Amino acid sequence: MRLDSDVRQRLLQREMRTYGRKNGFVTKGQAARLKRWLPVIGLPREARLADAGLPAGMPVVMEIGFGNGEFLAHLARAHPEWAFLGVEIYLPGVAKAVARLEDAGVIERCRISQLPAQYVLAHQVGEGELHGVYINHPDPWPKARHHKRRLIQKDFARLLVSRLEEGGFLKLATDKPDLAEWMRDILDATPGLANVAGRGRFAPREPERPLTKFEQRGLREGRESLFLHYVKTGHGDAT
Ligand SMILES: C[S@@+](CC[C@H](N)C(=O)[O-])C[C@H]1O[C@@H](n2cnc3c(N)ncnc32)[C@H](O)[C@@H]1O
Repeated sequence: MRLDSDVRQRLLQREMRTYGRKNGFVTKGQAARLKRWLPVIGLPREARLADAGLPAGMPVVMEIGFGNGEFLAHLARAHPEWAFLGVEIYLPGVAKAVARLEDAGVIERCRISQLPAQYVLAHQVGEGELHGVYINHPDPWPKARHHKRRLIQKDFARLLVSRLEEGGFLKLATDKPDLAEWMRDILDATPGLANVAGRGRFAPREPERPLTKFEQRGLREGRESLFLHYVKTGHGDAT
């Protein structure tokens, strides 16, 4: 079914330019869960993360483009000491994630937005408010003329760094070597970020990571994923 446009307008995406699909069908059960939970865990466009009612003093970890929410739910179960901000522009993904988070018993420590990560970071998250950020398999946009649509860009990288606390982490994964190099080159050159594996290098796969849908898809097609791990150094130099 289509989610009521009233619910979409009030609690989710207002028309905002993004690359990639936003709307789609949800099941009746998913629609009911969205209506129940979004007033509690949705981060409306006008709200700031700091006022979103997360437990005071709890480090907040963000996942950008959480897809079906599997990784986010796993992370929330594995880290009861963290609160979460999940951002995903595709409505059916948001609907699946809300169901997973509720079933995992972790939903009250999570805040969810269907707005683009660029907007959320620029307008709703303050400087130094994030303990960490995960970005798993961002859209690759393989054609050269579409590279400007890729999530990781020079300005976006600077915005990300400004939202991390000192010592905070940024972890990325992709199964597309060309995108992996693109992200590494931009992030290695971003002031205030240190590549934990060393400049120009990829990080080992963390054994506790669950396989995301897109990591599995890459493996089925014969591609091992590549991983990047940065920390915010607190001084302005890229390593
Ligand atoms: C290739 S999928 C990867 C999904 C999941 N992270 C995984 O590894 O299976 C990329 C996801 O990023 C989302 N996305 C794309 N642009 C976004 C943006 N600007 N803000 C938030 N999410 C975005 C897409 O809707 C899509 O679900």
